[in-house]
Amino acid sequence: MYVAIVKLLEPHPSVVATKLLERRKIIDCGKQFNMIACSWLQFMIHDWIDHMEDTHQVEIVAPKEVAGQCPLKSFKFLRSKEISTGSLQTKIGFVNSRTPWWDGSVIYGNNEAGMGKVRVYKDGKLKISSDGLLEHDEKGIPISGDVRNCWAGFSLLQALFVKEHNLVCDMLKENYPDFDDEKLYQLSRLVTSAVIAKIHTIDWTVELLRTDTLLAAMRINWVNMKDLIGKEGEKRLSKIGMDKMLVSMGYQACGAVTLWNYPSWMRDLVAHDIDGDERPDRVDMASLEIYRDRERKVPRYNEFRRNLLMIPISKWEDLTDDEEVIDALYEVYGDDVEKLDLLVGIHAEKKIKGFAISETAFFIFVLIASRRLEADRFFTTNFNSQTYTEEGLQWVNRTECLKDVIDRHFPEMSRNYMRCSSAFSVWDSDPNAPNYVPLYMRPAS
Ligand code: HEM
Repeated sequence: MYVAIVKLLEPHPSVVATKLLERRKIIDCGKQFNMIACSWLQFMIHDWIDHMEDTHQVEIVAPKEVAGQCPLKSFKFLRSKEISTGSLQTKIGFVNSRTPWWDGSVIYGNNEAGMGKVRVYKDGKLKISSDGLLEHDEKGIPISGDVRNCWAGFSLLQALFVKEHNLVCDMLKENYPDFDDEKLYQLSRLVTSAVIAKIHTIDWTVELLRTDTLLAAMRINWVNMKDLIGKEGEKRLSKIGMDKMLVSMGYQACGAVTLWNYPSWMRDLVAHDIDGDERPDRVDMASLEIYRDRERKVPRYNEFRRNLLMIPISKWEDLTDDEEVIDALYEVYGDDVEKLDLLVGIHAEKKIKGFAISETAFFIFVLIASRRLEADRFFTTNFNSQTYTEEGLQWVNRTECLKDVIDRHFPEMSRNYMRCSSAFSVWDSDPNAPNYVPLYMRPAS
């Protein structure tokens, strides 16, 4: 037991967070990715995964050497729920409380009760308020598939895809007048989920892997982000309005994934429970992320690379040639490269020329993203007109990117405000130059 505790706190998560993660000055990702792109990633995470917690409370107390620099000197949270897998190799596992498939559960819900809450039960439609945003319950919590740790940008994407779902219902009803509420709901859900998966695969990912810039943010860094979180954020969003918020997020670059760029406000955060209610204990997300990976037995950086059959590092210089980073890594981990946390490693890793993301992140990304598609019969064997209807399939095939969805619901917006090619780039940036050379014949850049 003693050994396990030492490992969980070695080096101390608050030391890692303070000395290697916390933002010193804002580093954004240039024109590559905007706040819509950043919210999109959260939108996807909330479709796929949330580790269940048990009832045991853990407290992390910042050690003296960094306590003065930690917004919370200590914070409490619930341990992740462990289960026995029954497998001889990996004996312990962790429960996912969201459905891992690309099934749109972020707007449709993860279980019967959740799914019932968002439906109108007429013409297959989902609830949406008259201003085009999500409806709210009596506590001010948005009514949607997943509402935990929401903020204005995230619930805006939920609202956009509820609108998309309802539009698909209208289209299906017009073409297939005999379909009842249930059939329209199920079919529209299939089509909308496929549209989401397609946008992620051929629009968001293409922007993420554009080779001339850094990987864009997985963490948000808006100056006044704090005002846009949770119930307060919902109130503000309804004052701002959906269209203005979308344009504003389109113009705002998001933060780069690199060391010393973790938003400071996230080190003192009101977290939500699974129903979107605020928790009494505030958390330091930067320290918590380090702790959670260790607690959930995510291998540290070198072991993670070995598991992917990648070459591990043997000294800090193998990771980066930035001397300031090397010094900081040495200060936190000494010369024990085996202790390097995965999260820190992928932020510190020197990018391969021509790659937008770290090599380690790229490997796992490619494996998981393609697996999620290939393992799903609705994107493979059953991606046909028998399952989707002829018109439903056409809807998916005609949708190429998020801009197409925005154009459907805000016909003037992209013409007036978007210069760039993808809705995930900063909207005043240049469009991609046309390239008539087929993809497979282009030289590597
Ligand atoms: C306003 C923005 C956000 C807030 C307030 C927020 C808050 C939170 C909180 C409180 C947790 C649970 C922490 C814990 O107890 O372990 C969490 C988990 C998580 N968040 Fe966020 N987050 C935000 C944005 C994002 C974004 C942009 C991403 C995209 C990478 C993201 C990815 C995740 C992931 C992967 C988890 C772990 C889920 C799991 O347990 O499996 N979050 N977030």
